[in-house]
Amino acid sequence: MTSDDAKRRAAERACDLVQSGMKLGLGTGSTAALFVAELGRRRIDILGVPTSEATRRQAEALGIRLATLDDEPELDLTVDGADELDPVLNLIKGGGGALLREKLVAAASRRMVVIADSSKRVPQLGRFPLPVEVVSFGLETTRRRIAACLRELELPADIRLRRSADDQPFRTDGGNVILDLRLGEIPDPHGLAAVLKSTLGVVEHGLFVAMASLALIGGPEGVIEMA
Ligand code: 5RP
Repeated sequence: MTSDDAKRRAAERACDLVQSGMKLGLGTGSTAALFVAELGRRRIDILGVPTSEATRRQAEALGIRLATLDDEPELDLTVDGADELDPVLNLIKGGGGALLREKLVAAASRRMVVIADSSKRVPQLGRFPLPVEVVSFGLETTRRRIAACLRELELPADIRLRRSADDQPFRTDGGNVILDLRLGEIPDPHGLAAVLKSTLGVVEHGLFVAMASLALIGGPEGVIEMA
C-alpha cells in the first residue's frame, strides 16, 4: 500500500464523521486535499472554512460552499493533516506553511480530527523540523532571540530560513516567513510552545498541543483510531 492510499483511507474515514449542514474547517496539505476531494465526491452540503489559499482554490473548484472565520467564528469540526503526532495527540504542523490559519481554524472548532498515514506517528515530537512563522522585519534579531531560548532549554539552535523552489524566502499566505527548527526531539512540547509564543517577532509556531481529540491513521490493516 502506498502512503497516498493510506492517507486516502484516513481521509475517507474522516468524511464518515461529516453530516450535512456542518460548519467545517478544511485543512491544508496532501492528506487534507484527499479529504476535501472526498467531500466534493460525496456532495455533502457543508459550509467550509479553508486554512489556506490552496485549499480555498481546491474547495471552490469542487463547488463546496465556503465562508471565512469572520463569517463563521464557531465551527463544528476541523479535519487536517499533521507532520508528526505523538501518543497523546500533540502535533507538529506547518510543513506546508499554513500553520497560522490552521491553528486559528482548529481553535475555533469544537473538535479537531487529524488524518495521516502511519509514518506520522512518533513516540516523541521533534524529528520533523518545527516550523515557526515570524515577521520578516528584524528577522535576524528574531532568529537570535529564538536561538537564545533554545540554548536555555538545552535544545540545539539549528534554525533555517525556509526557502521556495526559486531559492527566495518562502512566504506564508499572511506574507510572513518561516524558520524551521531542527531540534531532533522535543521533551516538553508545552514548555517550548509557551516560550516560542512569548518571543518577540514570532507570529505562531507549529506545535499544536492538546488541540486534536481524535487521529485517524490509515494503513494496510485499515484505519486505526487514536483518541
Ligand atoms: C500544512 C500542514 C500539513 O497538514 C502537514 O504538512 C501534513 O501534510 P501532508 O498531509 O501533505 O503530509 O501542516 O501546513
